[in-house]
Amino acid sequence: MSHLIAPSLLASDFANLQSECEMLNNSETDWYHLDVMDGVFVPNISFGIPVIEAINRHTLKPLDVHLMIVQPERYIRDFKKAGANILTVHIEASTHLHRTIGAIKDEDMKAGVALNPHTPVESLEPVLNDIDLVCLMSVNPGFGGQSFIEKTYDKVRKLKQMINESGSSAVIEIDGGVSINNAKQLIDAGADVLVAGSSVFKADNPTEMISRLKNI
Ligand code: DX5
Ligand code: ZN
Repeated sequence: MSHLIAPSLLASDFANLQSECEMLNNSETDWYHLDVMDGVFVPNISFGIPVIEAINRHTLKPLDVHLMIVQPERYIRDFKKAGANILTVHIEASTHLHRTIGAIKDEDMKAGVALNPHTPVESLEPVLNDIDLVCLMSVNPGFGGQSFIEKTYDKVRKLKQMINESGSSAVIEIDGGVSINNAKQLIDAGADVLVAGSSVFKADNPTEMISRLKNI
């Protein structure tokens, strides 16, 4: 499978979400990456269910929803109703992770688990065969525009090996500080999905940047 590009709307113009969605619809975007922050799990508040519902009315591609919230299990059905196709929860915010993964799949969504930079990939071993996606944070979650943490490459390689050995079908998504300068190295290390916020939306030509990231 060739890698996927998931632009993060966190870096888009929130006053013009419809036109941002149309730009992405007409680009080589594979998924829309939507970052939900609660001001508790991370020190920032972004947007929530009503905004995702509104975005969903203008999108033609899967919605990849990244929950940076405590007790994500409380909102699984709400995000499904809002249009989420992939729902990712943080391992650090999930006391009963195995149950939460089951609940996401019961709602017919793909289940993802995100890991903060300090969380070892080995912590996923017990659930690796139950999930569809691992989101490796390559910055500390909470803000766009931060610099990429280089240690991520080692984590990608290690996780790829674990996935191959276990027969898991999980894809590896990288989130934070992804740009044209590290995309190739990430793909070579084993990444399947690249999330890109600032590098896409702050580019002179976002559509062209998405194409460059896709065809790297
Ligand atoms: C960070 C979010 C990211 C963010 C990435 O907490 O999870 O998805 O939007 O933004 P960039 O690509 O600017 O680092
Ligand atoms: Zn994200």
